[in-house]
Amino acid sequence: EAFFDVLVVGCGLSGCTIAERCANELGLKVLIIDKRDHVGGNCYDYVDEKCAIRRSMYGAHLFHTKHERVWEYVQRFSEWIPYEHRVRGRVMRDDGKPVTVPIPPTRETVNKLFDEDVRTDAEMEAWYGRERKLPPNGDPPANGEEAALARVGERLYEKVFRHYTKKQWDKEPKELDASVLQRLPCRVTADDRYFSDPHQALPRRGYTRVFENMLTSNDLITVRLECDYFELLRRGKFPRRAFTVYTGPIDGYYASLGMPRLEYRSLRFEEEYINDTPADSENGYFFQEAMVVNYPGADVDYTRIVEYKHTPNQPPGRKDRPGTVIVREYSSDVGEPYYPVPTSKNRELYEKYAELAAREPHVAFVGRLASYKYFNMDEAVLNALEMFDNLKEKGVLAVKRPP
Ligand code: FAD
Ligand code: NA
Repeated sequence: EAFFDVLVVGCGLSGCTIAERCANELGLKVLIIDKRDHVGGNCYDYVDEKCAIRRSMYGAHLFHTKHERVWEYVQRFSEWIPYEHRVRGRVMRDDGKPVTVPIPPTRETVNKLFDEDVRTDAEMEAWYGRERKLPPNGDPPANGEEAALARVGERLYEKVFRHYTKKQWDKEPKELDASVLQRLPCRVTADDRYFSDPHQALPRRGYTRVFENMLTSNDLITVRLECDYFELLRRGKFPRRAFTVYTGPIDGYYASLGMPRLEYRSLRFEEEYINDTPADSENGYFFQEAMVVNYPGADVDYTRIVEYKHTPNQPPGRKDRPGTVIVREYSSDVGEPYYPVPTSKNRELYEKYAELAAREPHVAFVGRLASYKYFNMDEAVLNALEMFDNLKEKGVLAVKRPP
């Protein structure tokens, strides 16, 4: 039977980055497996045959980074098209009229929602100053609701953040840690970009192609799909290997110990194909005005609608032809593990798992699931590159076949 220097569990961004570095920098023989039938982890995308539109399988993915190291790295595997993401929100005014406004809120948002006339950054700062409701006695906010009120005040909280947060976490903001709403994005400038990072782009031929390019960059890498690590364990069909990099859920790794599991929020996606998209001579044929439109109100159960057709990496000319697919997103407590639930109970439990993991010989735990932490794509890459550096420094991984 073949011997592998490294077994990587998980073909997501974390696993693929480690696999690529091990093969190309150290000349290590790598076996990378995934239980799913595709590479890419949650970044996986494909062209939907029903409408010829490139779409993601696990929710919209917008790449953005301020880390030059990551930007340089990802460009090795794809051409990237600059794309500045802008999110709009469909919000009901108090007079019952719906308006579509920038999210995170800008001066345009408050002007349209509350008939204000805010014109400058300073006026916007002053507006927030009047709206903010700080906890009494200079106390820090005790929970998510107090944190939100201290940051944006009652009206914006009610219209944009309160119900959205409830839909997202299935908990009232009052029941959440203050930290969850402390960093609510709210702008004083007129900048309506969703991200402020210097590099914001989408891969010309989709994310999946990026992963394929990473994994075919060196013959030392072998990929096996529909291959569950624990299934291999159970069947005793374990590949001989020197070292394992595990990017799956950390509590899953220790399931046999019977400790409590870590909580995750998930998403349910409901898709709809629309053929008679209205023609707009300027922009093309679309269902909605932006790729992502949030629905922060209590009137609908979904949090947002994604229309992938807006992205610039669609098949050429696609936007000028009718037809689209839209995906409504519902937050859910069952399904794929997506978002760690930020409670002290989960944090303490994770620490227990992390202690076990630290004592594990010949295994490194890498990535968002193994770290029980939400990583943006660029953070996942950076973290994997740094883990790789670290394993090299410690001599756990070393050059075998010079490149
Ligand atoms: P994953 O992509 O989850 O990969 C882990 C892989 O391990 C999976 O393929 C899984 O099948 C496999 N695996 C698990 N257990 C086993 C096992 N037992 N055996 C074999 N294989 C196993 N980031 C951004 O920068 N911009 C965005 O706009 C953005 N949007 C997002 C939207 C959503 C809905 C979500 C959930 C995330 C979003 N992200 C976004 C974050 C991005 O998805 C992650 O940064 C990235 O997927 C992390 O890669 P990973 O390899 O750590 O984890
Ligand atoms: Na996203």
